[in-house]
Amino acid sequence: MNISLEEIREPIKANLTEFEDFVRKSLQLDDETLLSQMVDYVLSTRGKGIRPVIVMLCAASSSTINSFGKRTYLAALLVEIIHQASLVHDDVIDNSDKRRGRPSVNALWQSHNAVLVGDYLLSKLMTIGLQSGQFDLLSHIVGTLTTLCEGEVLQNDHASRLDTTRQDYYSIIEKKTASLFATSATAGALSVKASHDIQNTMYMFGYNLGMAFQIVDDILDYETNVNTGKPSMEDVLEKKITLPLIEIMERSSEQECERLREIISRCPTESNAVEQIREIVLHQKGIDYARETMKVFIQKALSSLSQLPKSIYVDSLMKLCQFVAERNN
Ligand code: FPP
Ligand code: MG
Repeated sequence: MNISLEEIREPIKANLTEFEDFVRKSLQLDDETLLSQMVDYVLSTRGKGIRPVIVMLCAASSSTINSFGKRTYLAALLVEIIHQASLVHDDVIDNSDKRRGRPSVNALWQSHNAVLVGDYLLSKLMTIGLQSGQFDLLSHIVGTLTTLCEGEVLQNDHASRLDTTRQDYYSIIEKKTASLFATSATAGALSVKASHDIQNTMYMFGYNLGMAFQIVDDILDYETNVNTGKPSMEDVLEKKITLPLIEIMERSSEQECERLREIISRCPTESNAVEQIREIVLHQKGIDYARETMKVFIQKALSSLSQLPKSIYVDSLMKLCQFVAERNN
């Protein structure tokens, strides 16, 4: 049976309720302005909240005193702000009018306002972080902003050249996704002042889970979406070569790769080309190979967890690995 997020959240249920209060108190403007409306919209359309769960479970798994302090909530808040701001900006960059089945901020209020809400959230991150005086946490978490931007630019650069190799792909997803997972896991440990060894273990756990998470995201792009009933194929529409396609290219001749690149270059404008790529990827088992690769990252994440003292929190992190590997949306 598939693992549910409720089951994973169970040991920190009360903390997550407190955290939700903290998020609203920290970010809501409580006035009638457009900015207030947009911030409320971003907060109410948040997704699975996996990153704050990672921060808290990693804090609890690292702590012998078994209690969360304000530092853990602060770390979870800072990570969540970065994630939300990056998605608001990502939808502007990708010109996407949907996020989690709802209209994106840019679709509702146009791109210039969406850029400003993202900027507003990032400036709140700085203010909240600096006013807290928890500079070790702030500097650890803020460093990830640079990495996220590097990842996005690297991705665009490769999309325009159609030359993404496996190593390039790993580098892109490490920067755009795994870095924030690794930061979340380490920030949890740092928030309870765990040892350097534990922080390093958490880093590796978060990194490998984040790599797997993005690979699943890229696989789901090719698969029939449970909500829309059709594959989104956003990646090839943006000429992004992701793992299912790379797995196939690695098994193809140079001539065949050239033919694939030619088809991908037509994807942004020709629906036939998109369908052709999907058929090739499905037929040549690109999804199956990508899933095998994803499982290797999940195994590495689990192996980091096995180095930690056993607890209900570590059990939950193990279930989270299974959840990420099996998720279908
Ligand atoms: C979603 O990936 C996007 C990211 C993981 C990172 C986005 C980062 C930036 C826009 C850099 C700027 C950062 C900040 C903090 C403002 P995706 O496009 O593969 O997934 P999707 O299908 O959810 O859009
Ligand atoms: Mg996107």
